[in-house]
Amino acid sequence: MINALRGMKDLIFEDALKYRYITDTASSIAQRYGFEFIETPILEETTLFKRSVGESSDIVGKEMYRFTDKGGNDVCMRPEGTAGVVRAFIQAKLDRQQGFKGKFFYFGPMYRYERPQKGRLRQFHQFGVESFGESKVEEDFTLIQMLSDIFDTLGIEYEVLINSLGCPKCMPPYRDNLLGYIKDRADKLCEDCNRRMDTNPIRVLDCKNEKCQEELKDAPRITHSLCEDCNRDFDRLKELLDKSGISYKVDSNLVRGLDYYTKTAFEFVSQNIGAQSSIAGGGRYDRLVEFLDGKPTPGVGFAIGIERIMELVELPQQERRGIYMGAMIDEAVDTIIDIAHKKRQTDKVSVEYTTKSLKAHLKGADRANARYAVIIGEDEYKNDSVMVRDLQQRSDKTVSIDEFVKMS
Ligand code: HAM
Repeated sequence: MINALRGMKDLIFEDALKYRYITDTASSIAQRYGFEFIETPILEETTLFKRSVGESSDIVGKEMYRFTDKGGNDVCMRPEGTAGVVRAFIQAKLDRQQGFKGKFFYFGPMYRYERPQKGRLRQFHQFGVESFGESKVEEDFTLIQMLSDIFDTLGIEYEVLINSLGCPKCMPPYRDNLLGYIKDRADKLCEDCNRRMDTNPIRVLDCKNEKCQEELKDAPRITHSLCEDCNRDFDRLKELLDKSGISYKVDSNLVRGLDYYTKTAFEFVSQNIGAQSSIAGGGRYDRLVEFLDGKPTPGVGFAIGIERIMELVELPQQERRGIYMGAMIDEAVDTIIDIAHKKRQTDKVSVEYTTKSLKAHLKGADRANARYAVIIGEDEYKNDSVMVRDLQQRSDKTVSIDEFVKMS
């Protein structure tokens, strides 16, 4: 038997319904916030991710599905959605339209060659949004509010963590300061931390090793080193969150796993799903369009991990819907097929081609969760009629085929 690859899951039955329910709910909320649907390719040039997510990140350093295609191109299965949307934004020359504000949402599979465990897959799905051209921190707040709306609508409890990662003015001196602090303690920090010291020292703050966390508890904090602009924006963000009643925690160790962030960074976490508790993450990336050869354009966005919230989502009660059709005698099968096509212009119809007893058909209609069972037996066939059973009201009637086709 051939199984799906390790870390890759089928979305089938309830999971498939939940996937649709989550993406439909999030899409309609994003549209109410003025965002438009965008779809970008799963395969992109490897350089795109190197220059955006960053070579020092675990994602690019260790987790890419990367290969050379038949044309000799170095390509990657996208590990996240932001880079592709930014590329599309620049390719469509939207960065050259002065004052243009582009707001996009997307959903689909992402690929990271991670060690699979609960909540951590190699193919997983994200719902994400990206907002271009708005430098005001009010937009960062609005995205956090949109995420809260999505999770509230889906009935998911969450905690909001926020941080500011500063800007090119205040981040480099902070990084040097932090590097000095961690270099003094290098022998007490784990191998990963020592490697990160050379590639991206702020990522050391994100180490999950308890011993390292203990060593780092008095490390300099970025929130104490922000420049005036970053400080003002961060205060304004907190003010708006306070006013809107969205509770949050400032977590100055929240550095995010991707290199493109500046200023606001945020994560939504759930206490109900185990160790991989981050259900959504995002932030501002004001330099990214420039890094990818576009005209400097501010940006901010987030992505939800759909599989992580699947077990927390309860599907709304499925109402009985549509029509189940079947025949009790072979001669009536073609009539059923003909009526089904006519009814399918307006209704959901499923057809059972095998002739069965009335009882067996009613069982089939029940399993299909249909509202109506429409059956042709010997008598109905002779009289050009059908038997209609309303499975909700539990009532029967016999009507002519013509009348049934016209019935709404
Ligand atoms: P990220 O934090 O890498 O951000 O991923 C966002 C979410 O995807 C995570 O919070 C988590 O729920 C889910 N996720 C990540 N990796 C896995 C995995 N291996 N298995 C299952 N779920 C996973 C981004 O991807 C950024 N592009 C978000 C963003 C958009 N920032 C600005 N705009």
